[in-house]
Amino acid sequence: MKKNIIIFDTTLRDGEQSPGASLNTKEKMEIAQQLSALGVDVIEAGFPASSPGDFEAVMSVAKGIKGPVVCGLARAIKKDIDLCFDAVKTAKKRRIHIFLATSPIHMKYKLKMTKEDVLQKAREAVAYARNLNDDVEFSPEDAARSDRDFLCRVVEAVIKAGASTVNIPDTVGYSVPDEFGGLIAELFNRVPNINKATISVHCHNDLGLATANSVSAILNGARQVECTINGLGERAGNASLEEIVMILKTRKPFFRLDTGIRTIEISKTSRLVSSLTGVPIQPNKAIVGKNAFAHEAGIHQHGMLAKSLTYEIMTPVSIGLKESTLVLGKHSGRHAFESRLAQIGMKLSKDDLEKAFAEFKVLADKKKEIYDEDIATLAENQLSREIQLYELKEIKISSGTGTVPRASIKLVKDNKTFFATATGDGPVDACYKAIEKIVSEKFKLLDYSVKSVSVGKDAVGEASVQLSCCGMVYSGRGISTDVIEASVKAFLTAANRILNLKHSKQRVSVRKNAM
Ligand code: KIV
Ligand code: ZN
Repeated sequence: MKKNIIIFDTTLRDGEQSPGASLNTKEKMEIAQQLSALGVDVIEAGFPASSPGDFEAVMSVAKGIKGPVVCGLARAIKKDIDLCFDAVKTAKKRRIHIFLATSPIHMKYKLKMTKEDVLQKAREAVAYARNLNDDVEFSPEDAARSDRDFLCRVVEAVIKAGASTVNIPDTVGYSVPDEFGGLIAELFNRVPNINKATISVHCHNDLGLATANSVSAILNGARQVECTINGLGERAGNASLEEIVMILKTRKPFFRLDTGIRTIEISKTSRLVSSLTGVPIQPNKAIVGKNAFAHEAGIHQHGMLAKSLTYEIMTPVSIGLKESTLVLGKHSGRHAFESRLAQIGMKLSKDDLEKAFAEFKVLADKKKEIYDEDIATLAENQLSREIQLYELKEIKISSGTGTVPRASIKLVKDNKTFFATATGDGPVDACYKAIEKIVSEKFKLLDYSVKSVSVGKDAVGEASVQLSCCGMVYSGRGISTDVIEASVKAFLTAANRILNLKHSKQRVSVRKNAM
């Protein structure tokens, strides 16, 4: 495949400038190895003059990474350039990246330099670096807010001095796509030696336009994009690598451009960067967010089940995920519910499916996300319903510090409602006593436990009980987002099993006596 766009990854440099995202040498190495597996062309491993730790990290990446160019950042001063070269020199392919601001505001307040001083310093720094290394990149920092005539002069001068790449940064994420694309087009029109260098862009995301600005620059001739995994970076971050790459891949007929990225490594790289930097990925982040391939609306799920292209413009497999997820929630429809049941190996009759689906909708109103365990329990509830002699209609509890727990229970049997109230050692005990009053039977509670069967604050609780009565021992399970209700359902299931058996034994003995 012919590569047209150079992917310059700066996760380990600009990305690491993200507040709280610092990485040690070992972590940088681990990420660099994964970036190499991903197939990036250039790894900017750090800013060697910024700290001894960064120097060491850049040096380790330079030594350990084969494949991509290893790059270090330097201010336009000899000391920085020397340190940068020292750090990258063991790399087979290495780059020195020099930056110097060119915008009026940076030159006046930060650098306290005139335009002519900046022009000369840029030229000298590039020439100096070029004596050490063939591959030199220059960035006129804050280029997007720089005077265009001056920027053209700087770009021409640094190319003449030996820069093989000139990177145009929108340092503060101020530009908008038409304007930024226009800037790149203007440089191509006005800088006479522009074809002697690769034109790169480096966009920040302060207005949420980093990716759009980078893409607009590509459409106007930029052939290197500086970006980071998960869009990490200073303030609102940089253009995100996965977005740029997947835009070019998904809209290939429009752009007719390729990168050398092995997109199936994207998801793994994203997770690694998030876990090592400790910066979480927002769920709705394009490409790598947890919800990027998750569908909840019933209509969408129906479409997805019929043909995934209805609602997906790229496949999860293309970024290294197994499959899309149909998230079951209150917007999901019967199709998705049935399909999930089949996936977990359960099949219900038409009637049971209707009932389970109705219960699912009730549960989905109480709980944000429904997990496979929830679905399985809903189905099991249907399968065990035929043994329900008494069905639970209502529970009312009063309990608290200094009060005797009291429960009122309503059960239904053969369309008749039964009601009882009882007190107990706790609310569950009170419920069990009220049930015993209704069914006129005493049960011995041999075992009782409650556990959570799904995840999250609104997880479903599962209660299990073992009861003995009349020489029989039976178990029951119940689930609900309310543990008291789950406990009552479990008790009732076990009690019904015992009562069913007792009644059928009685029926048998009545028949025997009648013979
Ligand atoms: O944002 C910026 O301008 C930079 C440069 C050092 C390229 O990060
Ligand atoms: Zn930057």
